Amino acid sequence: MEPFRFHSFVCTQQKPEGVPSCPANGSLAVLDALDRELHSRSLDNDVQLTTCGCMGLCDEGPVMVVYPAGVWYRRVRPSDVSEIVGTHLGGGKPVDRLVWNDAPAMKAMAVEHGEKFRQAMAARDKAGILPDRLDQMIRGYMPSRCLLTALELDIFTAVGDGGDAERIGAMINANARAAGMLLNALVALGLLSKSGEDYRNTPESARFFVQGSKDNQRNGLLHTANIWHRWSTLTDAVRSGTRVAMDDGVDLRNVDHKNDRDDTAVWTRNFIAGMQRIAKDRATLVVKILGTAGIRRVLDLGGGSGAYSIAFAKTGPDVQCEILDVPQVMPLTAEYVRQAGVSAQVSLRAGDMLHADFGSGYDIIMLNAICHMFSEEQNQDIFRRSLQALAPKGRLVVQDFILNPDKTGPQHAALFSLNMLVNTDAGASYSEFEYTNWMKAAGFTEVSRINLPGPSSLIVGVVK
Ligand SMILES: C[S@@+](CC[C@H](N)C(=O)[O-])C[C@H]1O[C@@H](n2cnc3c(N)ncnc32)[C@H](O)[C@@H]1O
Ligand code: FES
Repeated sequence: MEPFRFHSFVCTQQKPEGVPSCPANGSLAVLDALDRELHSRSLDNDVQLTTCGCMGLCDEGPVMVVYPAGVWYRRVRPSDVSEIVGTHLGGGKPVDRLVWNDAPAMKAMAVEHGEKFRQAMAARDKAGILPDRLDQMIRGYMPSRCLLTALELDIFTAVGDGGDAERIGAMINANARAAGMLLNALVALGLLSKSGEDYRNTPESARFFVQGSKDNQRNGLLHTANIWHRWSTLTDAVRSGTRVAMDDGVDLRNVDHKNDRDDTAVWTRNFIAGMQRIAKDRATLVVKILGTAGIRRVLDLGGGSGAYSIAFAKTGPDVQCEILDVPQVMPLTAEYVRQAGVSAQVSLRAGDMLHADFGSGYDIIMLNAICHMFSEEQNQDIFRRSLQALAPKGRLVVQDFILNPDKTGPQHAALFSLNMLVNTDAGASYSEFEYTNWMKAAGFTEVSRINLPGPSSLIVGVVK
């Protein structure tokens, strides 16, 4: 028995610009239309929709195949989708006018394409041309920088309900010619659309990047724009072995020495908003996984937006949480806690976790996205002091990007280690082996790892 009534493949093979391909002919729009149409007809569970690579029929794309019968469609348009779904995937009868069943011609085209592809690859190889994968990696900063600049200029809010480059440029205090170039690049990246001289937000950009939208994430994403400047110092940081000074650098722990307090306040607000963006959904999951039976007192070291304490507090009125964070973050934390309606259960303490007395009797101490900021020795010291501050059977919970034993992956954790090199004095990503050893050396028993969906995992140590 087949698990699905139909299995439908749509080619989404990306190719260099100018080379015929299904995406260049609109296969992504077809895929999107199929997804919606199947859902609207409640056929999601009967039809498995899958993307696939090149089938060698690129000039006739978008190409789509429906199994088990092996029905091929070519030059599919989004406007054909309703008929394909209704007649074929819903009714069982292929749409004859779109079916491509000239098997010998298809075979000849695919064979010729394969041969041409091999010859082109061999010619490129012989000429010593840089592989596309490496070329793309080297230019990877371009789309990223384009979007970050658009966010810094708040261009998506300025686009609003639409306008030309002159109007939008004036709204963001930018040169009209340059604003037009940026707007065109954003269209090329699929972040805006253009009709005549008018630019409009895509539904995605309107939802996530425009001020006033319910799901606007601009403030949180601006933290990445700040971090981008730090990444420009990577070469010097690798040479020196630690972060290097920058004119616009901000050290949360040395904030009083910073002249431009306004800049620092904006940096801090964006940083905490960035943390909140990542933590707010994750926190509920983490609290559920850890369980709350017998939990009365929680210490949230470097709690930031307070997302984890808020999630704990919401599990019951008897749970009391304490957030320890640096003084300049406290007003922001207080506001997040107030908005969540749990101020009576979450207390705030300004201090430096590297030196503060943690107190005693906690059931859980949380270190979410904290350990990567510090050196091995600093983490070991925090673990030892946490053991003293926990009640019997209390748990120390580390959430972080955990490296494989040889530290070459996962890719996100390996790259994040460099993020810490350019941003901190001695931070890094660490491996499960290191966290486990530090916990055991501090006196924790039953150290275990819990994998979470997404890039971070938990390491949990229990007090005897
Ligand atoms: C990466 S954020 C993580 C925030 C939060 N735990 C979360 O997961 O959303 C690091 C937090 O640690 C705080 N922090 C950094 N150094 C600190 C220190 N020495 N003492 C106390 N808090 C510190 C920062 O202000 C920030 O709120
Ligand atoms: S790109 Fe779709 S068949 Fe080649």
